[in-house]
Amino acid sequence: MQVFGVDIGGTGIKGAPVDIDEGKLAAPRFRLPTPQPAEPAAVSKTVADVVAHFGWTGAVGATFPAVIKGGVARTAANVDPGWVNTDVAGVLGSVLPGGVAVLNDADAAGVAEMTFGAGRDVGGVVIMTTFGTGIGTALFLHGQLVPNTELGHLEIGGHDAEMKASDAARERDDLSWEKWAKRVTRYLSALEALLWPDLIIIGGGASRKADRFLDHLDVRTKIVPAQLQNEAGIVGAALFAAVGDQTRPKAAVRPPRRRPPATRPPGGRRP
Ligand code: BGC
Repeated sequence: MQVFGVDIGGTGIKGAPVDIDEGKLAAPRFRLPTPQPAEPAAVSKTVADVVAHFGWTGAVGATFPAVIKGGVARTAANVDPGWVNTDVAGVLGSVLPGGVAVLNDADAAGVAEMTFGAGRDVGGVVIMTTFGTGIGTALFLHGQLVPNTELGHLEIGGHDAEMKASDAARERDDLSWEKWAKRVTRYLSALEALLWPDLIIIGGGASRKADRFLDHLDVRTKIVPAQLQNEAGIVGAALFAAVGDQTRPKAAVRPPRRRPPATRPPGGRRP
């Protein structure tokens, strides 16, 4: 079965139809630059252009680099502030009538890695960290996503961690891979101390150069590079659109509804 996946990033909007049984792109991805300023109307038009490139009219899954609750963006650390409180799924749905599901970009990449990549069949606590313009995180327990963790914004040494240890920070400060790995080690050590994961998957733009820095990381948890790399967001978005939001409370775990207390008097009849 095929579903369309779109990865909305700060610099590019990429998409392709995805074979969701195999976890592979069904056609080479198509990319357009993210319009600047990246305001809702301009971005949704570009998303529609990416989808139209393939003549696709069916369901679409889309990633977004912010907290997404019920399709609505709640933060905007690395995107235009005009998105905060915008119904991203609704805005995109107005140009994509086949239906749209939206989730956080790191969550999408994590879902793809857990299903088809480095986290496949791995139980316990797994954290995927994406190093790009910011630091995104996806947290899993026995393969189940805990959505919208924003652990890239942990405060370390008085700084927002992503300002120091993202891939953008490496480029901005012109750091060698070894020096940057020291910052990443400090960041991952903070994560470890708080969550004690069983596996850390390193993804995002930096994961393509994993051989340059993985050996310099010094943490106790097992670390592996992401396997789907550039395609993880697209594949994860398509999967999310296909299976729906698995993280919504199911009936069995909803709090029981309180019944009004019985008003029957002792030994008497209900009034
Ligand atoms: C955002 C996250 C996002 C990450 C990667 C962070 O700045 O707060 O929501 O997942 O960047 O794009």
